[in-house]
Amino acid sequence: MKYLIANWKAQMTFPQIQTWCQDFLELVNSDTALLTNLQQNNIEIIICPPFPFIQFVQYQIKNVKNIVVGAQTVSSIEEGKFTGEVTAKSLQGIAQYAIIGHSERRTHFNETEEMISQKIDQCKKYGVQTILCVRNQEDTIYETDIVAYEPTSSIGTGKNANPQDVVTMKKTLNLSSTIPFLYGGSADENNEHEYLQTGEVNGFLVGTASLNAKEFYEMAKKLIG
Ligand code: PGA
Repeated sequence: MKYLIANWKAQMTFPQIQTWCQDFLELVNSDTALLTNLQQNNIEIIICPPFPFIQFVQYQIKNVKNIVVGAQTVSSIEEGKFTGEVTAKSLQGIAQYAIIGHSERRTHFNETEEMISQKIDQCKKYGVQTILCVRNQEDTIYETDIVAYEPTSSIGTGKNANPQDVVTMKKTLNLSSTIPFLYGGSADENNEHEYLQTGEVNGFLVGTASLNAKEFYEMAKKLIG
């Protein structure tokens, strides 16, 4: 199985998301090869909108197998009087996945390893699958459903990492062979083949290139070859 994740961050308004969904679904629904690959579990596409739009996107994509929604983060707290927190318990049945430990969360919102570990526990408890982002070998690897290696210097900079360095990092992280290993950091339709050629990368976590429906669709197309 290959994975393609759209991480829109805080960069899309509701009208933009409505247009994105319409454009993306039109492209997917007219592509028999991609639909077949989605049907046959060869690829899963995970769209991670800002919280207010998760259900809208979920409703839009509900008729296409293996296109699902995820949250960009989740609370480390289970429930209670914590204004503004979005818990795994509340995401249960709404988002299939949550991204955890993205470098922007670690850097700008001071997320610690302790919080990350609690978030993963919460997701496991409430059936939300986890996408763990790691920046380097210093970050702790937890038991999660997907691991995405995202070197900070490549995120949003247009400077994607050297594919051989990504392969080396995968070995250093010593992941279980059953965990899908994704690359993220200025990944786009023009450079994805460099990573796929290594045979060690199972997909991509995409920021900038996911904001454009056509570009993201092209990435999905190339992922299945
Ligand atoms: P980018 O973002 O594709 O814009 O580099 C990736 C990410 O932050 O997940």
